[in-house]
Formats: sequence, C-alpha cells, structure tokens
Amino acid sequence: LQACLVNGRETVQLSVNDRGLLYGDGVFETMSVVDGELPLLSYHLERLRCGCERLGIACPSADLLQAEIVQLSANSKRAVLKLILTRGEAGRGYVSTATAVPTRILQRHSWPATPRRYWDSGVRVRFCRLRLALQPALAGIKHLNRLEQILARAEWQDENMQEGLLCDSEGYIVEGVSHNLFLVNGDELITPDLTQTGVAGVMRAYILSQLPAQGIHVRIEKVTPEAVLAADGLFLCNSVHGIWPICEIDAKPRQQNRLVCELRDRIARIIPYP
Ligand SMILES: Cc1ncc(COP(=O)(O)O)c(C=O)c1O
Repeated sequence: LQACLVNGRETVQLSVNDRGLLYGDGVFETMSVVDGELPLLSYHLERLRCGCERLGIACPSADLLQAEIVQLSANSKRAVLKLILTRGEAGRGYVSTATAVPTRILQRHSWPATPRRYWDSGVRVRFCRLRLALQPALAGIKHLNRLEQILARAEWQDENMQEGLLCDSEGYIVEGVSHNLFLVNGDELITPDLTQTGVAGVMRAYILSQLPAQGIHVRIEKVTPEAVLAADGLFLCNSVHGIWPICEIDAKPRQQNRLVCELRDRIARIIPYP
C-alpha cells in the first residue's frame, strides 16, 4: 500500500462500526493507473454509480471521486487504485438508517509484477468445484462480499495455475475468480450472461463497447463447460491485466487464436503490459 485516503483524509484508520466491515455492505473498483491517467475511469465511475443505486447507497458525486483519484494518481507512472465505498457507520443489526454517511476509501498500490508470458503465451486455468449462487438482486455488482471468490481461489496452490473458471449452481460457466471470460468461435465472440450471478467487469464492458466498430459480433448467453472446451479461442479480462489468452485448461493445451491475440494487442494500447 503506497497511499490511502479515507473520506479525503490521509489515514489508514476506519471505524469498527463501518458496515463495509460488518456486512460487506458496499462496493469497490480496482483501477489501472497508466502515466498518471486512468484509461477506464468513466467506466469505473459508472459501474460504481449503478452498484450504489441498486444497493441504495448514496454515491458521492463523480467530481468529488475524480478529484481524490487525481490527487492519488497524478504522479504515478504505473499503479493500481482501489476505491471502496461502504454504506458507512451504523449500530448493530442489519437495518440501515437513511442518515448513514457513506465511507470513501481510496488506496494506491504498486503495480503487480506479472510475467509477460501471461499475455504472450497465455495462462493456465482449471475448472473450480465451487458453484456460484444465483442471486439476480446482486448479479453484476462489484460488491464487497467476495467469499465465493476466496473459497474458489483456495482450491489450488499450484503457482503455475493462474485462474479458475467458475460455474453457477445450474452448471453454466460464469467467469474466472477475478476475470471475466470470452469465447471465440470463428469471427464471433461469446461471453456468459451475468444477470443471475457474477461481476460485470469494466474491461468486459469496454471490450463489448469496442466490438461493433471492429465489425465483430458478440453474443451474451448461457455458456456450458462443453462450449468452453470446444471454443476456437478463449480469453480472460480485467481492468488490471487487460486480456490474457488461455493456453491450457485442466492440463489440456489449447492453440493460440488470431482474434484473441488481435484483441489483446488492441487493449494493450490503453493498458500496456510489461
Ligand atoms: C469476480 C470478478 N469478476 C470479474 C472481474 C473483472 O472486473 P474488471 O474488468 O472490472 O476488473 C473481477 C476483477 O477483479 C472480479 O473480481
């Protein structure tokens, strides 16, 4: 942790009555800083606003959030900013008072040292045992309850395995532990529907917004594990890594795919990799 603001003040202290701590009652964003700028800032602020709206948390103005983000990122060549917004402090019990004032936590972390081969040759993934619960009221939101991801990530210790793929309780593939997933078949892209569970990633949204101009058709639908195994190409995405091709699933190697590499290179223009 390089720097931290809580409600605009430099501190790492937080109230023990904060509902973010008590119940995971809040949302967060993990954002890339590149040469002092945040390439996907408008997407992050929009998802944060949507998440707050769905949870009934009073989202601070974009101007206030942006001013603090600029303050913490302006002199950073490369960093990861994490913005956490909780419902604020409250007494014991789930009921939330309308007067709760949301807590803003903004952290700057150093850029993680990640091997370049994850972008060049791709990453190894496995199917996780844990099933994601269906919960349309929370689906898509990047909320602070991430226990499913913590359990799923604890399923493997092998350092040569970079990500796990998660199914929902009906057996459909949803996403990775900390990435969204795309399948490539011919010139068409497919990404799992996230209306029942999962986190609707900012990088996923950015990729989806860019595809029409490139003449690439995309379908958002339920995806089976069989469809994943049969796809011509596969990639993972998030706002820190951009695009990682998948080169192996459960020890079965997969061929490089031209379209996956093209998209990876396109995203690397806004979020360069080592
Ligand atoms: C569970 C989960 N899904 C998807 C993503 C990708 O989201 P984004 O593109 O906003 O980084 C993340 C990011 O960490 C995540 O934790």
